[in-house]
Amino acid sequence: MATKLDPWGAVSIDDYSKLFEEFGISSFEEILPQIDDPHPYMKRHIIFGHRDYQKVASAMKEKKPFAVMSGFMPSGRVHLGGKMVMEEIIWHQKHGGDAFVAIADMEAHSVRGISWAKCREMGIEEYILSIIALGLEPSATIYFQSKSGAVRDLAFELAAAARFSELAAIYGFSGETNVAHMISVIVQSADILHPQLPENGGPKPVVIPVGSDQDAHIRLTRDLASRMRKFLVEEREGRVSLRGKAAGPDIIEAAAARLKEMGYKKVKRYEEHIDVFDAKAKDAGKVEEMMRVFEVEEGGYGFVPPASLYHRFMTGLTGGKMSSSRPESHIALTEDPEEAAKKVMRAVTGGRQSLAEQKKLGGEPERCTVYELMLFHLSEDESELQEIFEECKSGERMCGTCKKEAAERIRAFLIKHQREREIARERLPEYGL
Ligand code: TRP
Ligand code: SF4
Repeated sequence: MATKLDPWGAVSIDDYSKLFEEFGISSFEEILPQIDDPHPYMKRHIIFGHRDYQKVASAMKEKKPFAVMSGFMPSGRVHLGGKMVMEEIIWHQKHGGDAFVAIADMEAHSVRGISWAKCREMGIEEYILSIIALGLEPSATIYFQSKSGAVRDLAFELAAAARFSELAAIYGFSGETNVAHMISVIVQSADILHPQLPENGGPKPVVIPVGSDQDAHIRLTRDLASRMRKFLVEEREGRVSLRGKAAGPDIIEAAAARLKEMGYKKVKRYEEHIDVFDAKAKDAGKVEEMMRVFEVEEGGYGFVPPASLYHRFMTGLTGGKMSSSRPESHIALTEDPEEAAKKVMRAVTGGRQSLAEQKKLGGEPERCTVYELMLFHLSEDESELQEIFEECKSGERMCGTCKKEAAERIRAFLIKHQREREIARERLPEYGL
């Protein structure tokens, strides 16, 4: 009996393990068992890491409010990489989350010099029609950054908590960087935090599905979120301590009174902090939630630091990175289905030099862009993938037939998707567009 082959070998997370160590991204694997009906990207380890997703998973399980949000810069054609983010948004919406989708026109305008009219057109034609066609329901909020007063106002507030030196360190900004570009990164933080504004139901866990290259934005936004808090709740040997950050003396006083109303008796107030001696360390979470509510009543934000999910990137069909600037490397969602099928037939595989060698040694699905297409987009069935993987490894499967099958599936997918995009076009008003 041959050793059991791992059909997810192609998505080994070894390359990503340094992300875990260096940046403090957690492995998704530990959370997976708690998720009912996981998305195939979760089961297949394509989603490999997260920050703070535990909060989202718990909210989902307990049917408490949570949200999912991500954004797209309207700078070119949306390809299968963008589809991954779309699917993750839709999955969370189906599992009870409020969904928010930003079209990052301020970013595209300031960073890429794309006109507002072109941003509008690309936002709708490339991104919005596709995400609706893929199944986003009208309860979602789809918006253009430049048209959202709430996001722009929040960005201004957040800007007061962000320093130039840190943006320079994160994004490489210099004295030559245009100021609108700097503003656009703060607007992105506002995108991420605005699902927690009172008009959107207040503080709650929010997950941002992104590629791992976007982690710097997430870290910045998590920092900004906690800088906006008025209180920091900490557990300290047997007691719970609240530090009033920007809170004035009146608010500290009111907070101490609130804690007493909650039933705590040993509440000691200092100039800038409060100690609750009869709250056990395990109560810290409860006290924190209380203070969050209090903070919002006092006109603060009470932001929960946003969570994130990180997925692996697909390899480009020509090998190397998949890039929107190289048409041969990707398949666009609006691409001519016949053309897409041809690209698959030309794609780099994990096949051997000759048929004989392939039969003898077997192929290498773990380095095959065609197998990756199946894994990321073209197969819903775990046992089918297992079979393809094993047949390839054992030399029973030949690249020619395999490519033909993938090409046919991508053709069929695009025909259907593009038909659904036309239906979505008729439905834009349901989404307020
Ligand atoms: N900066 C992202 C990009 O380049 C787009 C974006 C804007 C975004 N706002 C966001 C992504 C909020 C995630 C969350 O594609
Ligand atoms: Fe890739 Fe299929 Fe060839 Fe295996 S047989 S290397 S999966 S194209």
